[in-house]
Amino acid sequence: MKVAIIVFSATGNTARMAREIKTNFETLGVAVDGYDITALSDRQKTIDISPYQGIVFGFPVHSLRAPRVAREWLRTLTGHGKKAALFFTYGGFTVHPAHQSTRQILTEQNFSVVSSAEFPGAHTFNLGGWRAFPDRPNEPDFNLAQDYAQATLNRFTGEDPGILGDLDHSIYSGEQLDGFERLRFKIVTQLPTRAGRECSLCMACEDECPTGAMDAVTGEVDSHKCIACLACVANCPDQVLSINDTTPFWAFKLDMGKTTEQDLNLQQGKIYL
Ligand SMILES: Cc1cc2nc3c(=O)[nH]c(=O)nc-3n(C[C@H](O)[C@H](O)[C@H](O)COP(=O)(O)O)c2cc1C
Ligand code: SF4
Ligand code: SF4
Repeated sequence: MKVAIIVFSATGNTARMAREIKTNFETLGVAVDGYDITALSDRQKTIDISPYQGIVFGFPVHSLRAPRVAREWLRTLTGHGKKAALFFTYGGFTVHPAHQSTRQILTEQNFSVVSSAEFPGAHTFNLGGWRAFPDRPNEPDFNLAQDYAQATLNRFTGEDPGILGDLDHSIYSGEQLDGFERLRFKIVTQLPTRAGRECSLCMACEDECPTGAMDAVTGEVDSHKCIACLACVANCPDQVLSINDTTPFWAFKLDMGKTTEQDLNLQQGKIYL
């Protein structure tokens, strides 16, 4: 049995879980090839999926769905009926539309989706002052990844002939979800900026930007291309890039989610079969 794990990860949480899942598969005797499609240049290469009996796709939840550029990339694939599994990392808030909408894309691309999972990951907006899942993923999350790998393997081999069952229905239309995606700059992060600060011009923010939105020399960000993933902010060695102070929106966000910081951080991941 040979499996591919394909992951998009702007700030490392999803990649961390992918490494854990890869190790778990390998312990179960599965050969695993890992692919990272975060960089624009990697999404422009073709991945030959023909040698694999199962493909695992891992994404962060961005405004209730997989990141826009990852969704666009999925639409370039052809599954030929191959089995696929999904997993997401998320920052403590709404996650269920991501399972449903990504399964729909994969089904339309002729994959058969057999499982999905969500794992807590430090919320990217903690970079601006939120405090959601500051220490995740952690050991219990890694233990759940073990169960996910085993259940997914059973479905890839056919020992368990099931496919991914009913999921919570999103109460949001596609247009509403597109609206949330556009609004995050206005309400939460604003565009990343150096705010006039000098830097060593290492170019990492431009080279590693998943969408080609960052111009390292001018420090300007193209608002039409930027997906607010904050890879540039997280990875700047000089720590000169920043976003809006997100703390004023933190209490409102907890209120909207009808939760407290303490309860939020107790959340556990979930497997869907
Ligand atoms: C633009 C953006 C939107 C996000 N939207 C959500 C969301 O709707 N629900 C949620 O729980 N977390 C959300 N998050 C948090 C991420 O899903 C979480 O931090 C994830 O683990 C990041 O993964 P990565 O480190 O692999 O990039 C969002 C993060 C970003 C950058
Ligand atoms: S990553 Fe930071 S130091 Fe490097 S070019 Fe970008 S802003 Fe400058
Ligand atoms: S410029 Fe935008 S898309 Fe590029 S790394 Fe920064 S936040 Fe992500």
